Amino acid sequence: MSCSKYIGCWLSRTLIETGSAKGDGIQYALNAGFQMVFSIEIDPAYYEHCVKRFQGNGRVILMQGDSKEILPEILAKTNEPVTILLDAHVTGPNQKHGEKLCPVIDELKAIIDHSKSDQGKNLRHIIVIDDINWLDGKQEWYGNISVKDIKNTLKDSGYEITEQTKRYCVIQRL
Ligand SMILES: C[S@@+](CC[C@H](N)C(=O)[O-])C[C@H]1O[C@@H](n2cnc3c(N)ncnc32)[C@H](O)[C@@H]1O
Repeated sequence: MSCSKYIGCWLSRTLIETGSAKGDGIQYALNAGFQMVFSIEIDPAYYEHCVKRFQGNGRVILMQGDSKEILPEILAKTNEPVTILLDAHVTGPNQKHGEKLCPVIDELKAIIDHSKSDQGKNLRHIIVIDDINWLDGKQEWYGNISVKDIKNTLKDSGYEITEQTKRYCVIQRL
C-alpha cells in the first residue's frame, strides 16, 4: 500500500507529488488537510483521468510531463516549506516513463539545487520517497537505483534520511 494514504503525517500547507496515477494520493492529501496539492504525471491518460476527477477543485494543480523537468519549475515558484512526495516511477514493464525509468535521483537533485538558491536557502522541506522496497535493483524495470544512490545524492546537501521503513523513507533538512 502506498504511503500516500498516510501523507497527513507530514502535513504542511502545500504538497508537491510526483506521479499522480489515478489521483488517490491527491485525494488523501486533500482529506489530510493540505490546502494546495501540485501533482505531476507523465502518462497523458492518467493526467486526463485526474483532470476529470478534480475538475473545479481549486486546491489541485495538475501538470503533465516528466517530473525531472516540471518539479524544478514548481520549486522555482516555492517560497515556503512544503511536503514533497516522490512517487513517480513505472509500476511494471512497458509503461510510460520519462528520460529515466525512475526519476527520483534527478528529483532530489532539483530539490537540492533549489535549496542552494537565494529563494530556497532557508526552506526546510519534508521529502517522502515512496516504494523504496522496489529499489536496490530488485526490479530491473524500476531503474536499478539503490538507497545508497539516494544517500550519495544527499551527501553534503544538508538533507538526510530521518526515517526509513521497508516501504518509504523521509528526508529532512537538519
Ligand atoms: C506509483 S504511481 C503513483 C501513485 C500515486 N502517487 C498515488 O499515491 O496514488 C507512479 C506514477 O508515476 C508516473 N510516472 C512515471 N514516471 C514519471 C515521470 N518521469 N514523471 C512524472 N510521472 C511519472 C506513472 O505514470 C504512474 O502513474
